[in-house]
Amino acid sequence: MTAIDGSNILAELRETLPENTLITDTGLMETYRTDRAMFCDAGMPLAVVRAQCTADVVAAMKVANKHGVPVVPQGARSGLSGGANAIDGCLVISLEAMDQIVRIDQANRYVVTQPGVLNAVLARAVAEHGLFYPPDPSSKEFCAIGGNLATNSGGLCCVKYGVTTDYVLGLEVVLASGEVLRTGRTTVKGVAGYDLARLFVGSEGTLGIITEATLRLRAAAERPKTLAATFADADDAARAVSAIVTSRVVPSLLEFMDRTTVQTVNDQFHLGFDSDIGAVILAQSDAGGIAGGAEIDSIATILREAGAVDVVLAETDQEADALLAARREVLTALETMGTTLIDDVCVPRDRLAELVAGIEKISANQRLTIGVVGHAGDGNFHPTVVFNSDDDDESARAYAAFDEIMMLGLELGGTITGEHGVGLLKRGPLTIEIGELGLQVHRDIKKALDPTGILNPGKIF
Ligand code: LAC
Ligand code: ZN
Repeated sequence: MTAIDGSNILAELRETLPENTLITDTGLMETYRTDRAMFCDAGMPLAVVRAQCTADVVAAMKVANKHGVPVVPQGARSGLSGGANAIDGCLVISLEAMDQIVRIDQANRYVVTQPGVLNAVLARAVAEHGLFYPPDPSSKEFCAIGGNLATNSGGLCCVKYGVTTDYVLGLEVVLASGEVLRTGRTTVKGVAGYDLARLFVGSEGTLGIITEATLRLRAAAERPKTLAATFADADDAARAVSAIVTSRVVPSLLEFMDRTTVQTVNDQFHLGFDSDIGAVILAQSDAGGIAGGAEIDSIATILREAGAVDVVLAETDQEADALLAARREVLTALETMGTTLIDDVCVPRDRLAELVAGIEKISANQRLTIGVVGHAGDGNFHPTVVFNSDDDDESARAYAAFDEIMMLGLELGGTITGEHGVGLLKRGPLTIEIGELGLQVHRDIKKALDPTGILNPGKIF
């Protein structure tokens, strides 16, 4: 293999790309090396291309393809598995400057958007037209739609409204060759050919670079009613979640926080929960009007019957917003307690109590704090190992606990990642989950779309 001549490539990039698109300053490139995951390998890029439009991505891809340079697509770098981390000598193609909403089609309820638009910015823009883009990761104020598509992000409202892929109608994708594929539709239905758009969703930049998305919208939902239910222990709360899931009620949000996470946000956000609370469930109904009142009452009744110590309805929007804001800040709050390794297991919802019990066992065996927060209504939990990374022994135990939680998720019939993606962090366990044949099919698809393996190599598998 001939060595890649960096100076040649940079000269070609300078020739084809508009001025100010290319970053080669080492200090500046430093900020483009990693996403939010701690402890994943990150290299130093040859250059960062801050694409302003699809043509820039095409130009950069063509140069990379010609010279066999690895390309790492990157959005807002809020990912939690190292999927957007740079590789030594790679070309980072940052989509963060492609931040325009192209068109909101009210009559057909869709939005056409560039990938660098932040999730909450998009949601607010469509809300002004009486429309609703549901997927709402905790990081919605600082994560971009492109990254949401690349990892098929979820969020807090998935229990009722589904995840990112459920809203994808069409995509524009720059392929490894530099060609531009437009795939999908703007119609409600459409089965012409393979569902290529969804193939790119969750592919973490390994199959192509998404430069535009057409996303389905819903009519605006009503302002939700919110309740907080407290439990003596996490096991009771997990069982209560199963009771709701098997009832006829579908809350628009059903979140879980264990003792550690409640205490952490309680201290930081002055929520006023008693210090002996074992777990909290937050639930919402956005049914609206009288139906909404009846629905939140039904949820409260189920939770009480399932053993809630106390169920309190938020009296004002401000009170509800404060509870939700605290929930969304759990990871940030845990990060102030030490180094964190955040799991993302998702299990069948009738096995949540077993998951909670298993995590408690792992925490005790490894002598580590594991804060558990999650989208209970989806069976998707984020057990977060908090540890001192200066202590080698503790770090080793933290890694062991992190892996054991993924294995526990698999044993319970679940998955190693519900919404954060595989990236670099979960490549080993992925093979266990999808099996040898599944892995081979992944390799074959990768080969078909990226024959020389330049797109985000080493990520996912
Ligand atoms: C959350 C992120 C970590 O649920 O997925 O807060
Ligand atoms: Zn989450």
